[in-house]
Amino acid sequence: MENLISLVNKLQRACTALGDHGEGSTLPTLWDSLPVIAVVGGQFPHVLAIQNLELNYTNVGFDMSTSILIRDVWQSSGKSSVLESVVGKDFLPRGSGIVTRRPLVLQLHRIDGQGEYAEFMHLKDKRFTDFGNFSSHLLICCFVVNLTLVDLPGLTKVAVDGQPDSIVLDIENMVRSFIEKPNCIILAISAANQDLATSDAIKISREVDPKGERTFGVLTKIDLMDKGTDAVDILEGRSYRLPYPWIGVVNRSQQDINKNVDMIAARLREREYFASTPQYKHLTDRMGSEHLAKMLSKHLENVIKSRIPGLQSLITKTTAELETELHRLGKPIAADAGGKLYTIMEICRMFDGIYKEHLDGAYVSNREL
Ligand code: GDP
Ligand code: MG
Ligand code: NA
Repeated sequence: MENLISLVNKLQRACTALGDHGEGSTLPTLWDSLPVIAVVGGQFPHVLAIQNLELNYTNVGFDMSTSILIRDVWQSSGKSSVLESVVGKDFLPRGSGIVTRRPLVLQLHRIDGQGEYAEFMHLKDKRFTDFGNFSSHLLICCFVVNLTLVDLPGLTKVAVDGQPDSIVLDIENMVRSFIEKPNCIILAISAANQDLATSDAIKISREVDPKGERTFGVLTKIDLMDKGTDAVDILEGRSYRLPYPWIGVVNRSQQDINKNVDMIAARLREREYFASTPQYKHLTDRMGSEHLAKMLSKHLENVIKSRIPGLQSLITKTTAELETELHRLGKPIAADAGGKLYTIMEICRMFDGIYKEHLDGAYVSNREL
């Protein structure tokens, strides 16, 4: 498994090195074959709720800044928090008044003997090794995974702060363009203190993945539900059925973030929450961030295994095409185009070799190197 994952990571790095950020450059098809995890969910999903809040606040002296704060704390589904807790590290902009404004494409790497680092695609050459209070001995199995994660801006129904009205559609289209790719594993985030029937995450993920084959339903903010209500119907799949079981989580609250409560403490408390709440006790084993990370790891492993033959033929095809192109150009005399093609070809050849190694001869390439 580790081998497979490091192989995927090498491929991703090669794509990046070649200037392919998944936006249709050098090797778009190669990038498109590699698994990516993206979180999707509402930002300020309920216009009605916002209006109600505004009404409430009119009574007590409403002002715009209060409204923005309340909206974010109450209406944000917790996307960044989930992504962080899956990884077990603090690295994303997150919290009240903080909004993910563009897709943040993050790669997590682990290099033997050198430890781990994270890299944002839009901040090239900057490696983040300081993950705040993360403690390696408590890292869950998921951390061996070198992953590409995408933190998407929240789906919204209202433009705020003088944004053009078109922003609502723009965000939706951009989010859709990420999650409609078949290689995207969708974490559909809904908050337990909001009506599931109006969940944007469910709406948009159902649109791009109608059978739910790559969608994981995640229910956040279970701790914030009204007293006397619980999420059992959702978590047991009766409210909205998904092939993969729903997973409930309790992320850090805004107060926890302000107090710098660390990931490990938050995890322990989360586990305790499910184990000690009578309604959820019987579900404890399949609730929480750690379980979510394990599920994703397992799923990722299956995806990678199933993709190997396809990737192999893709690489073979790319190499063949590059060889033809190089042949056409003739021997490069310090010509940029030829030089670059040569590098790409070298990389493809290398991968072809790595594949064969990884597959232990079980998969025989149809092409002589
Ligand atoms: P995003 O805007 O969807 O990325 O959401 P964030 O991860 O930034 O979270 C928004 C706010 O909700 C922050 O103040 C978080 O602390 C809070 N939050 C997220 N998940 C939970 C949760 O499960 N329980 C509680 N109490 N607060 C949460
Ligand atoms: Mg966010
Ligand atoms: Na937020």
